[in-house]
Amino acid sequence: MEKIYFYVHLVYFFISLQGYYKEVFYSQLIIEKNRIFASFLHHLKIPVREGTKQQYMQEFILILDFGGQYKELIARTVRSLNVYSEIKPGKVTAPEIKKLAPVGIILTGSLNCVNADGAFPCDPAIYELGIPIRTIVEHRDCGEENIRNFLYDVCGVSGSYDLNDYIEKQIEAIRKTVGNKRVLLALSGGVDSSVCAALLSQAIGEQLTCIFVDHGCMRLNEGNDIEKIFSKKKLNFIKVNAVDRFLRKLKGVTNPEQKRKIIGEEFVRVFEDESRKLGKIEFLAQGTIYPDIVESGGEFGNTIKSHHNVGGLPENLAFDGIVEPLSGLFKDEVRVIGRILGLPEFLFNRQPFPGPGLAVRVMGEVTKEKLDLLRKADYIVRQEIGRLRKKPQQYFAILTDVRSVGVKSDRRTYDYVVAVRSINTTDFMTCEYTPLSYKILNRIVMRIVGEVEQVSRVVYDITGKPPATIEWE
Ligand code: XMP
Repeated sequence: MEKIYFYVHLVYFFISLQGYYKEVFYSQLIIEKNRIFASFLHHLKIPVREGTKQQYMQEFILILDFGGQYKELIARTVRSLNVYSEIKPGKVTAPEIKKLAPVGIILTGSLNCVNADGAFPCDPAIYELGIPIRTIVEHRDCGEENIRNFLYDVCGVSGSYDLNDYIEKQIEAIRKTVGNKRVLLALSGGVDSSVCAALLSQAIGEQLTCIFVDHGCMRLNEGNDIEKIFSKKKLNFIKVNAVDRFLRKLKGVTNPEQKRKIIGEEFVRVFEDESRKLGKIEFLAQGTIYPDIVESGGEFGNTIKSHHNVGGLPENLAFDGIVEPLSGLFKDEVRVIGRILGLPEFLFNRQPFPGPGLAVRVMGEVTKEKLDLLRKADYIVRQEIGRLRKKPQQYFAILTDVRSVGVKSDRRTYDYVVAVRSINTTDFMTCEYTPLSYKILNRIVMRIVGEVEQVSRVVYDITGKPPATIEWE
């Protein structure tokens, strides 16, 4: 009999362990500082993520997700109305919701999802909690006025959600988590990692070290600009010039996926080499934001795109924990935090830029010569379109692998074709091309063929996504 009890307990232990890992990897909420589990994870060299977003929120709206595409839109609209919101999978039970104590609940889903195989009903007991509930299944119900009425007239919220407050609370939480230990941040110069650096710097000052890896596929002057800005701040900023190292690895490679993999892997190796030189650093910081978590699936069981923040880092970096102070925020909120923290506007309002950089905008083999050509053409595109009062969400140049015959200064040429891409989007998962005026297009073309040697033809990409992606590779 004792044996049976022993095996039952063993099975139960492994089931609980599996649930715990799910929590650690996916839910990113408050990590229980269970000493035994923490040392166990440390032994396995699996970082514990230090989420801090919800623990201090008093008044919040819970969005229960039953599939469909409106959850993020609703959550952002609620926040824009000064009320904190959080998205949870629809299968959360009434007792769990009671513990979270939201002031209102919004159920959202689409008919497709509700009728799909494996669809699950919500726990009927939530209607007995005495919390106001609203259902949204159509886009027109996501309007600000509708949601405002629900929040203020039905739920009686005070509307006290304020990002200034968020900063203060996060600084407190970071200090509490980190104590007197050290934190390492991989700084790319993009919006999220830049804002993350500024916030961490305010919280822990000298305990922070930031590494920027220049892989040689940055835009014109970008590496130097990033160094100029960040080395002036108290960030223990380290710029690693790894240009030759990356170009050597990329030599002769033409396959887009292979290029991405080589760059991802080499980044990890450089990061590893550098962090080894720095001695023991206990925490790794990342600029993960809320949509990265929601879209990565996890507790939602519905992966849209897997976020690469942790997946790309080597297991043997052996950090005790991961600090992600922006993991409760949407992109537009991160930009606001950047503004409040006094970052220059061009940093917090930047366009998205892919990790592999210009390597996925140079078709075919990536060489220094081709990168330099593209940098010049791209600078012109960004300068000209950047003058528009209403700017598109993303605009850049691509160096195609096509050469065509032309004539410059009465001489026959056989030069590269540059493509221009400019897109309008709200989610970057779909897009439309920007209907640029002929006047601007003409100016871009004249400048590129006039100022960039070895380019004598320019084309404009008017394909939406789908079927084309935003980047060309
Ligand atoms: P696609 O090309 O997939 O791009 O339509 C959608 C958005 O994602 C950006 N993008 C990347 N961002 N690492 C990133 O951090 C990447 O490897 C990457 N590839 C594409 C792209 O610029 C666009 O905003």
